[in-house]
Amino acid sequence: MTKSQNEELKRPHSPSYDLTGQRVVVVGGKTGIGLGMALAAHAAGARVTVASRRSAPATEHPELAPFGQMVLDISNEEAVRAAFNEIGSLDHLLVAAGPTDGSWGAFMDEDMRGVRSYANSKFLGSWACARYAAPNLSSGGSITFLTGGIAARSKIGMTAVTSTFAAVEALARSLALELGPIRVNAIRPGFIDTDLWNFLSPTDAADVREKVRANFPARRIGYPSDVGHAAVFLMTNPFVTGTVLEVSGGETLINWQF
Ligand SMILES: NC(=O)c1ccc[n+]([C@@H]2O[C@H](COP(=O)([O-])OP(=O)(O)OC[C@H]3O[C@@H](n4cnc5c(N)ncnc54)[C@H](OP(=O)(O)O)[C@@H]3O)[C@@H](O)[C@H]2O)c1
Repeated sequence: MTKSQNEELKRPHSPSYDLTGQRVVVVGGKTGIGLGMALAAHAAGARVTVASRRSAPATEHPELAPFGQMVLDISNEEAVRAAFNEIGSLDHLLVAAGPTDGSWGAFMDEDMRGVRSYANSKFLGSWACARYAAPNLSSGGSITFLTGGIAARSKIGMTAVTSTFAAVEALARSLALELGPIRVNAIRPGFIDTDLWNFLSPTDAADVREKVRANFPARRIGYPSDVGHAAVFLMTNPFVTGTVLEVSGGETLINWQF
């Protein structure tokens, strides 16, 4: 056995999910999946700041009481630069923002305004957050982006989202190389029960949930806390970088339409 293998045997072997004393910024962390990530990081001991466009005073949104808050639109590069200047040093950046800018539909029915606007917010917004946070990230720190199962298995009418998510996943791999030892990963969720689905009528939304329960290999719907769990793993495991972690209940293994 080598010296380093011997040393490894002396290291603690219960995995640590502890973020005590670490500073975590969750962009898009005031609702949905981002809020699930923020709550998980807080539960693991981190000091958490959530940032997004809305101002959501804790008096009206008690779920946000544990967090510091910032107002930030990630489609505005100058605002992103200023926000990370103000934030200063941090340990982990989670970019969970899910812009709804732009419209999309069948590829041949649309001009390019929808995809330009969507990619500008989701892809270039993720890029901007990484670009301006990176100088302030600790060397043991990490960046985690958020995509979706549709990156791996497209659906008709979703070309803009599929392509943008795939670009964000490529960004994670590329930045893992450029920014190391800062680690960079992406989480690819499947159906997660958030307000994102409010565009459906209550009956249609209930049908979708039922379809997910019946057809996804995990036989349940996903919750923001499932993605929060994965985010804490990515922040605390020091040897995971340049990867896409799917938290989808097996969504990409099956063919389904919502
Ligand atoms: N829910 C799912 O089933 C599911 C599945 C796969 C992938 N995803 C992806 O996961 C991401 C998050 O979705 P979600 O379900 O958590 O939706 P959500 O509850 O609507 O959360 C989206 C968050 O992004 C913030 N945001 C939007 N545009 C922004 C901008 N320009 N700058 C800063 N923040 C912005 C919003 O806050 P403000 O309005 O305050 O800015 C909101 O807090 C999306 O990209 C979505 O496509 C979701």
